[in-house]
Amino acid sequence: MSTTEQTRPVGSRVPNHARMLIDGAWVDSASGANLMVENPARRTAIASIPRGAKEDVDRAVQAAHKAFPAWSKVPPRQRGRLLLRIAEAIEARIEELARIIAEETGNALRTQARPEATLTADIFRYFGGLAGELKGETIPLGENVLSYTRREPLGVVGAIIPWNAPVLLGALKIAPALCAGNTLVLKAAEDAPLGVLLMAEVCQEFLPPGVLNVLTGLGEECGGPLAQNPIIQKLSFTGSTEVGKIIMRAAAERIVPVSLELGGKSPSIVYPDADEDWVVDGVISGMRFTRQSQSCTAGSRLFLHQDIFDSFLGKLTTKVQALKLGDPLDESTDIGSIINEKQFRKICGYVDEGLNRKDARLVFGGLPPKDGPLSQGYFAIPTVFADTSNDWRLAREEIFGPVLVAIPWTDEADAIRMANDSHYGLAAYVWTHEIGSALRAAHAIESGWVQVNQGLGQQPGHSYGGYKQSGIGREFSLEGMLDSFTQRKNVTVNMNVPRRAG
Ligand code: NAI
Ligand code: MG
Repeated sequence: MSTTEQTRPVGSRVPNHARMLIDGAWVDSASGANLMVENPARRTAIASIPRGAKEDVDRAVQAAHKAFPAWSKVPPRQRGRLLLRIAEAIEARIEELARIIAEETGNALRTQARPEATLTADIFRYFGGLAGELKGETIPLGENVLSYTRREPLGVVGAIIPWNAPVLLGALKIAPALCAGNTLVLKAAEDAPLGVLLMAEVCQEFLPPGVLNVLTGLGEECGGPLAQNPIIQKLSFTGSTEVGKIIMRAAAERIVPVSLELGGKSPSIVYPDADEDWVVDGVISGMRFTRQSQSCTAGSRLFLHQDIFDSFLGKLTTKVQALKLGDPLDESTDIGSIINEKQFRKICGYVDEGLNRKDARLVFGGLPPKDGPLSQGYFAIPTVFADTSNDWRLAREEIFGPVLVAIPWTDEADAIRMANDSHYGLAAYVWTHEIGSALRAAHAIESGWVQVNQGLGQQPGHSYGGYKQSGIGREFSLEGMLDSFTQRKNVTVNMNVPRRAG
């Protein structure tokens, strides 16, 4: 289908052409070049965006640099009040924001895009309320010494985000970075920049020019120069482990701190007492089937106790097959489409591999239909392979699509060993009524977030981030803001100074 001709759903809120935000103004790229944004559920181009590159990055960084001294001196609670007003303004536009997210990402409006827009407002509200907590400590060095710390902002932050929950992930950079007194240059993902730009438009109503700058463009061409810009004092990245390494190398070149929120291949361990409907619902939610499993937190390795293996998979089959795939804008749709052709082909490649292995058992799913309405978009079908081995590519690599592998276990220590046998360590799920087993597993699992008996998303306030190659640093919380977006200065005062004569 043509991607030059723009075709948009009836009632679309998407602009024909969206611009970048630099120094308080809405601008095109210096080169004048554009990129097209596609609606992946229809495979049609819906808007054009500037193809930002080094010159645009430099201008945005200069603007942020110029805005920093004044912004960093705004009293923190006043900065917090601005974030609270942004939260309210976003809340008033949730529906508009949600529809744009659904159109550009293919994520279903009801199950995904609307909750994302709602949580975005909540993120601004949460961090807005935290501004008064940017406090330091006093250090007890003795009666005649006053030693205290200040939490100072770092300067210009460079942030790069992916497309899977673009607006939420953007808010998780903007709100804490700005609350702490930094200024920001944020690069949106080329596949999903439109919701981020709408959020930026709302933010800009309240912020001085240059405090927040948002760029659109490709990874190497626009994200690359941002990561390498010498003025940037902090890099914060969410995306693939592969690009995370590139960002960390760029940070090493200039010795700037870096936060990385990267991939995952998270285990979900089901104990023999947990062959129950609510656990099946939790596993489905943890696997993020309703975001086509395009989530770093997805519980994509299912370790089922041997005694319940077939029974649990039977229940899972019934429930997942009841989920409706279709048009993301349709309120009855549970599951939307994959973000783009590259990711779609990548997922199909993994499914193909599973289908071609004689020792893998397809429980349900398979390759996408070749005809009918779903063949119009990048729709991948929820798929489960059973009896897989933990050392297969299917069980080791982040598929970032609705492909779940089910692996049997009989011995708890063995289940935990397999769960930990991964270079990722972002999230994990444990399912059992036995509190002792649950906590033993939770403590033994090498990952940044273990959920017991639930498969929910992150909530503001909880430090989120990875062990191993899933990342470095924590965001999402007060400590995350303090650790990731401030630096501690210690001031030590000798109070034992001789009195001046006379
Ligand atoms: P990616 O990591 O390439 O893209 C994420 C962001 O980084 C985008 O804004 C992109 O433009 C930018 N980027 C890419 N290359 C860059 C470079 N050399 N320098 C600076 N910035 C760069 O992710 P992609 O290609 O969209 O997806 C590939 C795989 O990554 C997925 O299949 C999935 O496994 C993983 N992924 C993980 C995410 C997570 O939340 N942990 C999110 C998105 C993807
Ligand atoms: Mg890439």
